[in-house]
Amino acid sequence: MSDTLRIGLIGWGTVGSALGLLIAQGPVRVQIVALAVRDPSRGRATPLPAGVPLMSPPELIREAEIVVEVVGGVDAALDWARDSLTRGRAYVTANKALLATHGALLAELATGHGGALLASASVGGGAPMIELVAHLAATGRIERLRGVLNATTTFMLSAMARGNTYAQALQAAQDAGYAEADPTFDVEGRDAAQKLAILASVAWGGWRSESEVERQGIVGIRLEPGATVRLVAEATPERMTVRPMRLPPSSPLAGVSGVASGLVVELTDTDPHLLVGPGAGGRATAGALYADLARLSAGERPILFAPRHGAIG
Ligand code: NAP
Ligand code: HSE
Repeated sequence: MSDTLRIGLIGWGTVGSALGLLIAQGPVRVQIVALAVRDPSRGRATPLPAGVPLMSPPELIREAEIVVEVVGGVDAALDWARDSLTRGRAYVTANKALLATHGALLAELATGHGGALLASASVGGGAPMIELVAHLAATGRIERLRGVLNATTTFMLSAMARGNTYAQALQAAQDAGYAEADPTFDVEGRDAAQKLAILASVAWGGWRSESEVERQGIVGIRLEPGATVRLVAEATPERMTVRPMRLPPSSPLAGVSGVASGLVVELTDTDPHLLVGPGAGGRATAGALYADLARLSAGERPILFAPRHGAIG
């Protein structure tokens, strides 16, 4: 591989265009050699980068050493990831829906074909939650994960506690680019469930699916003014749940508000670790993708969900 990473970028929306701006600024040497979008002719706040050839995703995957997918959804993304990893490419993505549905298959393909699978941006937005959990998992002493993992619902619940209606709060989260393309994934708890399944897979090994998470969202929720209610995701080795909970002021997660996400990692033999950071938004999320590119630039080939003591993401 040359000093400059040659990436194919699929998606130039909220996250993809923010990543484009980071790449233009450096310091990691990255060249976007191909770009794929759904509709090149549509108006956009950040114009498509000049001089970068537009291709279909299959053409782009043939062209680039590294494929960065910031589209979302499962079916088309699975085809792109499978094609990329079978060719030994590094696949870098923010797509938690894909990882919480087909993560085991993707890790197997990456392992079998010399590929790499990186997805820091899939959980925590800009907060490096996968990395924290992987680090703490090394000693095998993680007891419980407890997090506020979906920024859209945190943003909405914070706004509703200040008197906004549910509809106003959801519209504001969508306008800010925090919500999924289909916001039912946020408000019905699926986004949080996908992130929890990814973190639990890293914490205890053995890939876990979104479908194993017991889930309740925030649709139709009523809040009294000032109430601190959050959509809380919890996992132990035996059970994963997502549900709205009223948090007492003493809870370390009670201070997680606005666009933030937070994670508490409880260990069997030492004090818990708390990580809070911007959980959504183009710039913060693009920073996590950029950090994955920096790892590739340094010569790492991590594979998310690969067995511990081998290469782990
Ligand atoms: P977005 O703004 O809706 O952008 C999606 C991009 O994908 C658009 O550029 C769209 O093209 C392109 N696209 C859609 N279908 C395509 C296809 N068939 N072929 C090629 N390109 C296609 O989405 P986003 O908010 O950036 O989110 C992208 C991913 O990041 C999702 O997996 C999401 O879960 C994840 N994520 C988002 C955030 C956040 O704060 N937004 C945070 C963490 C993770 P057009 O531009 O032509 O429409
Ligand atoms: N829709 C997601 C959220 C984006 O609100 O947390 C970040 O993953």
